[in-house]
Amino acid sequence: MPSSRVSGFYNWPLQERLEWVAQWAGLTEEETAVLQGEAGLSAEQADRMIENVVGRYALPLGIALNFQVNGRDVLVPMAIEEPSVVAGASFAARLAREGGGFRAGATPPEMIGQIQVLDVPDVAAAAAALVTERDRLLAAADEVDPVLRRLGGGARDLIGRVLPETPAGPMLVVHLIYDVRDAMGANAVNTACERLAPLIAEITGGRVGLRILSNLADRRVAWAECSIPAAALSFDGFAGERVAQGIVEAWAFAAADPYRAATHNKGILNGIDAVALATGQDWRAIEAGAHAYAARSGQYTSLSTWSLDGKGNLVGRLELPLAVGTVGGATRAHPTARVALKILGVQTAQELAEIMAAVGLAQNLAALRALATEGIQKGHMALHARQVALAAGAVGEEIEEVARQMVTEGVVRPDRAEEILKTYRKERGGN
Ligand code: MEV
Repeated sequence: MPSSRVSGFYNWPLQERLEWVAQWAGLTEEETAVLQGEAGLSAEQADRMIENVVGRYALPLGIALNFQVNGRDVLVPMAIEEPSVVAGASFAARLAREGGGFRAGATPPEMIGQIQVLDVPDVAAAAAALVTERDRLLAAADEVDPVLRRLGGGARDLIGRVLPETPAGPMLVVHLIYDVRDAMGANAVNTACERLAPLIAEITGGRVGLRILSNLADRRVAWAECSIPAAALSFDGFAGERVAQGIVEAWAFAAADPYRAATHNKGILNGIDAVALATGQDWRAIEAGAHAYAARSGQYTSLSTWSLDGKGNLVGRLELPLAVGTVGGATRAHPTARVALKILGVQTAQELAEIMAAVGLAQNLAALRALATEGIQKGHMALHARQVALAAGAVGEEIEEVARQMVTEGVVRPDRAEEILKTYRKERGGN
């Protein structure tokens, strides 16, 4: 098993990085070409994917290094436009390695489908009838996807919930619990809900409204944990114990305050969304599920926890719903997503969810460590400056030159980038 622990990777030329990843993951020439972009998603494929297509949209694809999840080294493909995210994840994964890497797990991939029932004459009698008819309904739901059934998935349970007071009066909501195995599962669940609707109307005597999955996939959660020796956290003038304490205090802020929790969780999702995008997941579903889960107690709070154990180690844990798939949808239709899944070396949706939870926890650690010590801007500046220089029209070596001068001046703004660029070009005898 090759190691994902590499230092100075960012200094390598792009082509060498690509070749190294290709060798690491055993990519074919064709798969390697897909990562270079030109052989990625074709215009024809794009045209079949959504409506009114006029072009394609590219994002940088980076590789987060140093990850070890459940004892296995993994390279993590991340598609994202924001500087510092890939570097932050790699850095935090290196810290986590000092404590044995990430331990992660996931529940069985059970999604929830909702069937809204209105005008139920006797809600208690309807709920009782659903219990009596449970097996017949589950069998009908199972017929929707025989392949899924053969793979060990299918309908698991039926749960009636009463919403006694809504703006449209009382309603009964039937939850269909459906194991979707390695699919994200939206299609299977929505089809099953639609299939059950007439039966449910008949059994409850009510009128069926919506039939759709819930993105609060709280039966399909993944978690990751890490434990980092305090000594591994020391840097520059910051003692490890002080850094660990600062991270716990930063978490406490998010635990108590929704204004901070929103930003804290955004940092976690920086990592998770980037892997989701790289692997062709429905990242909006992940976002919706994560934020709803963060508010499940009635108060929006942190998705992660950070504490110190008896030995002074920093212990982190993240848990959130992750409705992700390794089959179906864009995971297979998008060539880059297919290659990204190969790089990750995952077979099942559960394994993918476990890695994504580890990446979320790493991203959170990177952000909290910076925020609790030197602040986020220092590390951000150099990378951000490059993006500003690029937006100002800098090309080739001009990008580094303009970015470097802005960082030296401590002024990273588009207007300053344009001025520096103009001067630089004049000095070089250009236009
Ligand atoms: C920026 O994209 C993410 C952070 O704001 C996360 C956080 O504050 O924890 C740095």
